[in-house]
Amino acid sequence: MRITDLNLLAALGAIEVQHIAGASLADRTSLGIGGTTDILLVRRHASLPELVAHLNTARIPHRFLGGGSNVLIDDGELPWVILQLARQEPEWRFDGTSVWVDAAADLGRTVTTCAKRDLGGMEGLIGVPGSVGGALRMNAGAYGTQIGSYVREVEVFQSGRGRIETLRGSEISFEYRHTSFAPDDIMLSVKLELPSKPYAEILEGIRICNQKRRASQPLNQKSAGCIFKNPPGSSAGRMIDELGLKGFAVGDARVSDRHANFFVNAGHASAADMLGLISEVRERVRRASGIALEEEVIVWKA
Ligand code: EPU
Repeated sequence: MRITDLNLLAALGAIEVQHIAGASLADRTSLGIGGTTDILLVRRHASLPELVAHLNTARIPHRFLGGGSNVLIDDGELPWVILQLARQEPEWRFDGTSVWVDAAADLGRTVTTCAKRDLGGMEGLIGVPGSVGGALRMNAGAYGTQIGSYVREVEVFQSGRGRIETLRGSEISFEYRHTSFAPDDIMLSVKLELPSKPYAEILEGIRICNQKRRASQPLNQKSAGCIFKNPPGSSAGRMIDELGLKGFAVGDARVSDRHANFFVNAGHASAADMLGLISEVRERVRRASGIALEEEVIVWKA
């Protein structure tokens, strides 16, 4: 979708929103899949209510994209404008054992930056790609850690109501790959409270998690992490593997040889290839086990 309204474009400049025309979303997602559209890069959180009001008045459909590491976006010219948050300076503000983190900050860099202040707990999250905001929205977790355990406050833009609110951690429920945030809540920043730990101990935890991840996940290939959530008490990766589906492909979308719940873009996969692979694998698992796997990746169909 292209923004051509000159009055709107002028208004964007005045509220520090950068307009990027005709951008490829394939360049902005870890899967390397996605069509083209205009992007609005928001340089000041406080601009969001006015920006969304302008877009609503001009009847321009829009969606928010975080770090792009857990989303499968359709091919072709997309019917929405994309809003993305630029990183705010400073990205981390420490106060004793707590830290306010900008939602656009990289999750891995957040783990290592906190480690340097002797603040640990999040070692398991090292290597989870994407932004802090994305991790928060879906309560990202790995190796026994989930980000929700450390959340004390969250600043969100409630886009449906057009206002910025600060929620207490106790008002939000964090479950397995699920939170109680409203679908139109946009994460802006989060206050984490972290346990004090010696730097060397945190580094050792990070080293062990990195080693496990390298041994079991296709880190050097384009993917969105695990495609399906694990069904209660089971592992989607193991179920797909047991059906002999490692290496199974639709076009250039392929079940990883290393971890069967990672579907990789092995070349020039389209969204149609990836969606075809997801539905074929889900169907085969359903036929074999009676279990309908639920997607963990967020799918944006045009
Ligand atoms: N397994 C297989 N074949 C495979 C993959 C796994 O037999 O191809 C077996 C493993 O041997 C193991 C079991 O299945 O016995 C579980 O595998 P793993 O330890 O890799 O964990 P997972 O349940 O597949 C979850 C998260 C990952 C997270 C890891 C490590 C989900 C959907 N996935 O994977 O998170 O990194 O644990 O904690 O919850 C993600 O969310 O995108 C993600 C990658």
